[in-house]
Amino acid sequence: MPLVTPVTKLLNIRIPIVQGGMQWVGVPKLVAAVSNAGGLGVITALTQPNPAALRNAIRETRSLTSKPFGVNITLLPSINPPDYAGYARAAVEEGVKIFETAGNNPGELIRFFKSNGCVVIHKCTTIRHAKSAVKLGVDILSIDGFECKCRSSWRGRYRRPRIGTQDSHSPEMHAHLTHSLRAPQKELNVPYLASGGIADARGVAASLALGAAGVNMGTRFMCTVESPIHENIKKTIVASSEQDTVHIFRTLHNTARVFKNKVSMEVVQIERRPGGAKFEDVRELVSGQRGKVVYENGDPDYGIWSAGISIGLITDIPTCDELLRTLEKGTEDIITNLSTVVVKSKL
Ligand SMILES: Cc1cc2nc3c(=O)[nH]c(=O)nc-3n(C[C@H](O)[C@H](O)[C@H](O)COP(=O)(O)O)c2cc1C
Repeated sequence: MPLVTPVTKLLNIRIPIVQGGMQWVGVPKLVAAVSNAGGLGVITALTQPNPAALRNAIRETRSLTSKPFGVNITLLPSINPPDYAGYARAAVEEGVKIFETAGNNPGELIRFFKSNGCVVIHKCTTIRHAKSAVKLGVDILSIDGFECKCRSSWRGRYRRPRIGTQDSHSPEMHAHLTHSLRAPQKELNVPYLASGGIADARGVAASLALGAAGVNMGTRFMCTVESPIHENIKKTIVASSEQDTVHIFRTLHNTARVFKNKVSMEVVQIERRPGGAKFEDVRELVSGQRGKVVYENGDPDYGIWSAGISIGLITDIPTCDELLRTLEKGTEDIITNLSTVVVKSKL
């Protein structure tokens, strides 16, 4: 019994599971493995040093799969922003038809992709951003919850109430996914993915029950055979519990959930200092290059690296094919078995 949802139809995939863009992780081998397994693999554009390298990554992915795959473009606040338009143009010229956008002010990119007949998935955490994205014509929303390996900067600042919340005064409102998924049903007219904290069939089935048309997963895909990160980091994820992540940059209104290690705890301590911290105070510690080295040399304490609460649910390192089969079968079984709970009422 296949799982058919508006997302499987729109993306032409078998299982409503998307591998979200992941810096240093969303590379052709993983992307193709996810797509070959029936989900949607997504190349992370900014992992490639320039648009020409992205073209090569797209070609390499295409040589590994004939199935649909997408490209993620994440708009980060930066003094010297990457050539976003160049990456977008390269991907469209290479024939990519599915894009995942994330971050601030995605309007221009979304308009460009829509004018080229592409399907756009946009990541967001606030009802306001979700509504704007729908107005811009996005086809699918990816709704991130508090559980996610979240980074406010790739979905807009959390200063506004997030989906499912009422509080507009808290500097950073984080709603749990079970709560966040209610609002879009009432307020938005596009299918949406549940994102954050999902790593097993129960999470997929629960997301569908909450109204999502599929799920977006990141951390779970880090810990697969085809994921490019060092084996020791995969083993570290398997050995970790849901207690092993921490929020950094919360006081800087740019919250990110990362693995709890010496470096991230030092960042948290600096942020807690009387008078708080400025980005300059932690710049060295949080350098993306140090995070990249973690994935290359396998030392989990070398730098900051991304991980969601779902690490607590990850107990193995399967191939993407094994993973997606297990999730598909498990989800079908849960949904089918749930019907046995219903006893015909005599009323
Ligand atoms: C290692 C890692 C790197 C990520 N990098 C990005 C990124 O560059 N852009 C982006 O939009 N999302 C990024 N994400 C978020 C994922 O696409 C996805 O939304 C998130 O991981 C879902 O939550 P989960 O990890 O609990 O499954 C990253 C996630 C991880 C784990």
